[in-house]
Parts: sequence; C-alpha cells; structure tokens
Amino acid sequence: AWTTGNIVDEQVAAIREQVGTKRAICALSGGVDSAVAAAIVQKAIGPQLTCVFVDHGLLRKGEAEQVEKDFVAATGVQLKVVDAEERFLSALAGVSDPEEKRKIIGREFIRIFEQAEREIVAESADAGEPVRFLVQGTLYPDVVESGGGSGTANIKSHHNVGGLPEDLQFELIEPLRKLFKDEVRQVGRELGLPEAIVGRQPFPGPGLGIRIVGEVTKERLDLLREADAIAREELTAAGLDTEIWQCPVVLLADVRSVGVQGDGRTYGHPIVLRPVSSEDAMTADWSRLPYEVLARISTRITNEVADVNRVVLDVTSKPPGTIEWE
Ligand code: XMP
Repeated sequence: AWTTGNIVDEQVAAIREQVGTKRAICALSGGVDSAVAAAIVQKAIGPQLTCVFVDHGLLRKGEAEQVEKDFVAATGVQLKVVDAEERFLSALAGVSDPEEKRKIIGREFIRIFEQAEREIVAESADAGEPVRFLVQGTLYPDVVESGGGSGTANIKSHHNVGGLPEDLQFELIEPLRKLFKDEVRQVGRELGLPEAIVGRQPFPGPGLGIRIVGEVTKERLDLLREADAIAREELTAAGLDTEIWQCPVVLLADVRSVGVQGDGRTYGHPIVLRPVSSEDAMTADWSRLPYEVLARISTRITNEVADVNRVVLDVTSKPPGTIEWE
C-alpha cells in the first residue's frame, strides 16, 4: 500500500533522475495543484527550479500575497513575480463576450510566461541554455479525462496554468499524475504548505475576469473582490468549506436595480451567490446553505460594498447551468 509520504519520496527520486543538472520552470496559479507540484519539484532539485507567478489582476483578495509570501516562506522556492494587471486590463478593455475574454486571458498569459522564461535563461549563470522542463499539476482525473475527451472543454475554452505553450519545447514533469485532489491536499499538508493554499476550493484560471458579467474594469474587480471576500469569510466562519465544492460570487455589472438605503434611492448592481455541491465539477447541484448564513452574507455585502444593493442566490443545477456564469 502506498502512502502520501512514499509517493513524495518516489517522485523526488524520479524527478532528480529525469532532470539531472538541467533547469525546470513552473507556473504558479495560487491553486493547490500547481503549488503542491512545485513543492515536490523544489524538494527534488531546489535551486534548479524557478517558479513564475503571473499576477493578472483577476485574483481574489489575499491570493497574490499567499503565493508571494506564504508559499515562498514554506518552500524556499525561487519565485519570479510578473505584475501584469495593467496589461491584462488593457487587453480586456471593452470586451464583454465570455469566450473572447477567455481567449485574451489565455493568450496574454502565454506571452508573459514565454517572456519570463527568456529572462530566467538570460539571468542564469549558464546563460544561453533554455529551460528544458516544465512542471505541471496534472492530476489523475485529468489524465483519464484527456484520454476520453472531456465534455466541458468543448463548452468553454478552459484556461489553466496547465494549458501552456504548445510551441515552447518542454519536457513535462507531472508529479501528481497518480493522485486525486484529496490526496494532493494531503501531500501539500505533509510538505508544510499554508492551509489557505492547500484547502483552497477550485478557482478558474481566468479568475474574476469570468465572474463579471460585462466588461472587466479595475473598479468592478475591486468591488467583486470585496463581495467575494465577505462570502468566503462567512462560509468559513460557518464551517461550510468542506461541505460545498465551491461558491463563485458573480457581479452582474451590466444590470442595475432600484433599492433604498436610509432616506435615499439607490440604483446598484446585483451580486450572485453560486454555492454548489459536486464530486468532480462535471455535474453539480446547488448547495442548500442555511438561511442564517445566506442572510449574513447578504446583509454584509449590501452594507459594506458600495454600489451593490441586491444579493441573489443561484438555484440551478449543472446541467443545465454551468458552475461559472461565463
Ligand atoms: P463550469 O463552469 O464549466 O466549471 O461548470 C467546471 C469547473 O471548472 C472550473 N473552471 C475552470 N478552471 N480554467 C480552470 O482552471 C478555466 O478556464 C475554468 N473555467 C471553469 C470551475 O471553477 C469549476 O470548478
């Protein structure tokens, strides 16, 4: 019988053998898979690994700090951070179509990653030799799914840090290929990664960019970040994190409704809560959250987030609704 402990040992030995004295690169997303994959490779080859974190400005509150501070502190990994918020926002300016947003975000991500790779090569002692290995957080279900052709991939053009450069010539290192998600979390905990990363619920590669229905702007992102942070805080406080699969919080930026606050009329945006229960995200049901928790989230969001005067609950299963709104 294998344990998560000897899976790590086995992978560390295999990676050392595979990489030799060459260099490897890994794109961190802030999510659990890329973080655990990077931590295993770091354990195997230490300074031969460089992680790249592209901050596209579409992350949730606190997520960039979790990677830049807590993950680095826990692993000692060499990290190259690219602050690309402005670049992503200008590429997304004026765009409302969900598929177009996804394509733009995926394209910009690859360009920035390629540029980062060139810089890493140029800065290294043995300058000139390209990075040979790319670390990916591919899980066992991904391996199985890509063999059989996945349904969701045809419905939305998924972007994740795994969907990287086809024209870049890398050999892959995939230390999580035999693991399921809960096992990846277990390995991450054993490697001492922060709980905020290890316990994180699924979050899409295009981030909050596909949780704003309408054009993506800095102001809208900031507003959504506040609402999302409140929802997450209350769900955690109520002990519901392990009960729900994930809870997208969506801003209907192109919709306004009339409200009243104090003596005045308001005309603000709705926030949608989309808590779902699921085994694998292929199908899902809406989570029957306790009314008191929903009430607290609603009261806090409408009180604390300017320009939001209504909170609505999505009670659609998947199918027919997808988990994300875009
Ligand atoms: P949907 O909306 O298709 O989502 O029901 C299924 C699961 O996939 C996540 N998701 C993504 N993950 N890149 C990702 O890495 C993406 O582009 C992406 N789009 C959706 C979603 O959060 C849910 O867990």
